[in-house]
Amino acid sequence: MDKHIDPLFKAKVEELLSQMTLEEKVGQLVLENAFAPINWHEVLQQQKLADERGEPFKIPLEINPVTSEHIRAGRVSAINSADPLLNNRLQQAAVEESRLHIPLLVGHDVIHGFRTVFPIPLAESCTWNPELLERASHAAAVEAACMGINWIFAPMVDIARDPRWGRVAEGAGEDPFLGAEMARARVRGFQSGNLPMGRRISACPKHYVGYGAAEAGRDYNSVELSERTLRDVYLPPFQAAFDNGAQSTMSAFNEISGIPGTCNSFLLRTVLRDEWGWNGVVVSDFNAIGELVQHGVAKDLRDAARLSILAGVDIDMESGAYTKHLAQLVEDGAVPLTILDEAVRRVLCLKFGLGLFENPYVDETLSEKYILAPEFRSLALDVARQSMVLLKNDKNVLPLQAQDQRIALIGPLANNRADLLGTWAVTGQASDVETVFDGFRHYVQGNLLNCVPGCSVSGDDPLDISAAVAAAQDSDIVVLVIGESAGMSGEAHSRAHLGLPGRQQELVNALAATGKPLVTVLMCGRPLVVPALVEKSAALLIGWHAGIRAGQAVADILFGAENPSGKLTVSWPRAEGQIPVYYAHKLTGRPAEGTGTTQYHEPFRSTYLDEPNAPLFSFGEGMSYSEYEYSNLQVLTPFVSPKETLQVGVVIKNTSSRAGVEIVQLYIRDLVASVTRPVKELKGFQRVHLEAGEKREIRFEIPVNTLGFHGLENRYLVETGEFKVWIGSDSTHGLDGIFTVRDILHS
Ligand code: GLC
Repeated sequence: MDKHIDPLFKAKVEELLSQMTLEEKVGQLVLENAFAPINWHEVLQQQKLADERGEPFKIPLEINPVTSEHIRAGRVSAINSADPLLNNRLQQAAVEESRLHIPLLVGHDVIHGFRTVFPIPLAESCTWNPELLERASHAAAVEAACMGINWIFAPMVDIARDPRWGRVAEGAGEDPFLGAEMARARVRGFQSGNLPMGRRISACPKHYVGYGAAEAGRDYNSVELSERTLRDVYLPPFQAAFDNGAQSTMSAFNEISGIPGTCNSFLLRTVLRDEWGWNGVVVSDFNAIGELVQHGVAKDLRDAARLSILAGVDIDMESGAYTKHLAQLVEDGAVPLTILDEAVRRVLCLKFGLGLFENPYVDETLSEKYILAPEFRSLALDVARQSMVLLKNDKNVLPLQAQDQRIALIGPLANNRADLLGTWAVTGQASDVETVFDGFRHYVQGNLLNCVPGCSVSGDDPLDISAAVAAAQDSDIVVLVIGESAGMSGEAHSRAHLGLPGRQQELVNALAATGKPLVTVLMCGRPLVVPALVEKSAALLIGWHAGIRAGQAVADILFGAENPSGKLTVSWPRAEGQIPVYYAHKLTGRPAEGTGTTQYHEPFRSTYLDEPNAPLFSFGEGMSYSEYEYSNLQVLTPFVSPKETLQVGVVIKNTSSRAGVEIVQLYIRDLVASVTRPVKELKGFQRVHLEAGEKREIRFEIPVNTLGFHGLENRYLVETGEFKVWIGSDSTHGLDGIFTVRDILHS
């Protein structure tokens, strides 16, 4: 018996299990596609036309009659669908027309909103506002619940330190501490109560684990990680999600040091079940079980099914391996019945916990009340405003003066809708998106605003640069809105060159040559390598792919109605050659800033001949229209033990004439340890609102037992010795102090 089954449902689960045939047990471990095949090429063409006409578009889906039959036969446990009518029909097949009436899990990718599309998660993480993201996740859960969805394949909590990887867009950046905070907030938001009709939703933090460390930033590529790095960097956001009640997780496509995540019993059983005592459901990623054959660890689909169920994957997403082979594997004795029963128990427990036996259907009229509700649209604007990051503002060229400035609004993303939704916005509608041009028209009279695309985002189509240059020459200032299309970001969309796609740099150069000040807004799904653009821009705002309210948010910031507060959660490389570049790096034995070791004629250091080591913009960096001054850092507890709390105070003053929010960050460094430690590690942050001229002392209270790492035996510990602590505005600036940990803590 799986020792983790929730006692609340134990009797019901056992009673049901005792009635199930072997085929019905296998059926509870299958997620099957519920829809008849469609011609995606045709559908995407139709969607593009609808987007261009600014019309809503609905993907034409029909139920696959085979799936309905499988559901009635008790051979399907879960589907992936966002259509309430179809979901109710398929639930009816399961609940009223099958032998045991077991309801379906209805999963869907609700990554940054359902119909109210928020900024991409990487952008959302730049708010450094877990409370806001909890509310955004709750809004997404409400809309999803109205569709009959009871399982959200999110949050994506993969730590990512390589912007070549397209899925960096879906996570919370490079840092495990911040990633864990965001994971907690999103799980709370998705799984919170008070959904319509008392519905409940299970989150599914993914992709377990290490997916973001794909070699060369190429999606699905091999991952080589030490156990220590896995435990110190990639596992913490998952542990945080599970500690906050996440009821499922998704096994990753990638291998980790030779063993694919979808047949990795060390991760799926030793860590998840034995060490963490977690009893949720593990679902494979899409066909990840079948891909064990491509990985070369399974000789065929039967072998793949055996490896995955033994390793601890409960539900098979769409590979067909469990449907085709699991029953026979059990009958042949290759898979113990106890292993099968344990997986079925977890799935049944999840379904009971979601209340599906009592409440399987959704009220199909709910969507009228909740979809795109005004409070959700307003929340999406708040998130977009707080997610944007101001990285340059020479001579305070921003905020713009709306009244007396002729503005040339130029660029392929200035009047674009579909791309601003970003990746994984499959249930969003381009027609819901406010363009930057829409936003500007709230501030600027028509005769002072001229909007010209200048070129397309990618490709070599005929350029409209001359019209853009003419518009610039006939203006006082140029606002350039450029970057990536949504399709350049996300799954299976890695890039080896991270500059501006297409001929956008030509557009930039031509506009810069006019001598007009350039205010650049980058709408993108990842950090881009754009040193030349930064050089030519008087101001730079990272707008990201910011969802349905993107245009209003950009305008609110550029015209000063919103004082920007966003800070980067991912380092911004100067060159692809620096990647991976991240703030929490090791010092090495020959640090760049150190004396190095003199061999032959000069000191040899860990540097490049042709670039500095530092990224173009650092983790935690972001400007405001206010100025903040830090002073008087005090380590109030200079000697602490692991059971105590480190207390550090600092005074911060808003020296400007306007109120603002500063995200104050606390970093530490373990100066001498039994293994090498990063030069800095984020261990705390606070969003501090300060009125103009306001001065305030703020205090951090950090549990010392969170300052540890996995030592020589890969066990968590906090060692004794001196630590350095910084408090400041980003990972490269701050006041510092010293404290000492006196006793050792072993986990
Ligand atoms: C995809 C993604 C995963 C998603 C799943 C279902 O391949 O890797 O994040 O949840 O399939 O759509």
